[in-house]
Amino acid sequence: MVVLVSGAGTNLGALLEASADEGWGAVVVGVVSDRSDAPALQRARDAGLPAEVVALGDSPDRAAWDAALTDAVAALAPDLVVLAGFMRLVGPAFLARLGGRVVNTHPALSPSFPGTRAPADALAYGVKVTGATVLLVDEGVDTGAVLAQVAVPVLDDDDVVTLHERIKTAERPLLVDVVGRMARGGWSTSPDNPRKVLLP
Ligand code: GRF
Repeated sequence: MVVLVSGAGTNLGALLEASADEGWGAVVVGVVSDRSDAPALQRARDAGLPAEVVALGDSPDRAAWDAALTDAVAALAPDLVVLAGFMRLVGPAFLARLGGRVVNTHPALSPSFPGTRAPADALAYGVKVTGATVLLVDEGVDTGAVLAQVAVPVLDDDDVVTLHERIKTAERPLLVDVVGRMARGGWSTSPDNPRKVLLP
């Protein structure tokens, strides 16, 4: 798989750790980031992996960035692309070339709280339970078919940091479990409901 990152890269770290076990079924062949200052890039370099930056600001427009990102990822010929804390929407060129095998992890129970501020939005709404969702990527904002979800309680004294940390603690093993199952056994959609994804 190729992993796309923008930030700390703790999900990338969990995937790298899992890949040390051959039986897990997947290996990371490269990491691509939209941010040159993402700490996740150092994790990739420490693991001896190619780590490339494709920053939006280095492209004349969004379509050119989408094309550059697509080329960088496709050059690594991945069977699976994992957006692990990648804070931008991939574009039409990316999905035309790689769509159907792009997975995202989102720190909320979809379809609640799409977008980049999900833990803050959950707190502001006042929900008592939120969580993480691993989903297939489509052209929408966190609208793709759900692969797996985990619920996490919201505590009365939570702030965005404590809540997001609790979500991330549940999110990492969920992502590792889903990616391993997809790698080992593939996935399918229910014949009567294309939004219902079946994992082995
Ligand atoms: C995760 O909660 C991810 O769902 C969200 O940003 C966080 C990334 O964490 N989009 P990390 O960079 O993997 O530590």
